[in-house]
Amino acid sequence: MSVIDRIGALEPGGSGPLYLQLQQLIRSAIQRERLAPATALPSERDLTERYSMSRVTVRRALDGLVEDGMLERRQGAGTFVARRPEASTPAGGRVEKNFALLTSFSEDMRARGLVPGNEWIARMQGAVTPKEALSLNLSPGSPVFRFQRIRFADGMPMAFEASTVAGYALHSLDDVTDSLYDALRASGNRPVRALQSVRALGFDKEQASRLGVAQGHAGLFIERRSFLTDGRPVEVTHSYYRGDAYDLVAELSDP
Ligand code: GLP
Repeated sequence: MSVIDRIGALEPGGSGPLYLQLQQLIRSAIQRERLAPATALPSERDLTERYSMSRVTVRRALDGLVEDGMLERRQGAGTFVARRPEASTPAGGRVEKNFALLTSFSEDMRARGLVPGNEWIARMQGAVTPKEALSLNLSPGSPVFRFQRIRFADGMPMAFEASTVAGYALHSLDDVTDSLYDALRASGNRPVRALQSVRALGFDKEQASRLGVAQGHAGLFIERRSFLTDGRPVEVTHSYYRGDAYDLVAELSDP
């Protein structure tokens, strides 16, 4: 399939200025990974012909995407999809998360070319609460570790996460520096299976201010309970993702 086919056709009767329509088409092809990083774009002349637009309009569309960091111009070589499209950050786009893979936040962000970051709100050690005991299948009084942090992608706040980890799974609080799953892997307790549920919510004042959005902003509440190979639950995490920054995708098969 040619690059122009992968960009696709403009919506017939689409509204708004033509240059914005073309921009949106190319942006969406990049975000949906129909155009891989470093792909060469068709020449301005080819785009002009294909989309029946003036050269000025095509150039204006591309200029905007170059400014956004989605495209790169190389002297004498043409225009290319940027190696790390800036617009896959919340500033200009959304992060897609495969809902069927047991990956960590850090892995998800890196896979998108984004740099994961944490701001720690709390790291605590204590005895399991009755609710946690049920989720983690622990007896009353068992030790647990609790981690609360704001999760960033390229410096943009994406989610607030509160994790409770069974005490046997880590040696100490300090095991976790950047990635919880890296720490669990290092101690031989990285989960291999998880149950996850998602619910829509409007952020309350505190949640909204943590993520730098307005109160009532749409969010996703995700609860994950994850398990070791022997079936023991190891982690329960409550995540509050910005609804405008995250797309959950899954591949479904015929049962
Ligand atoms: C995701 C999951 C959490 C998990 C976290 C680990 O966000 N929803 O359940 O605790 O990844 O991420 P990391 O290893 O980057 O700390």
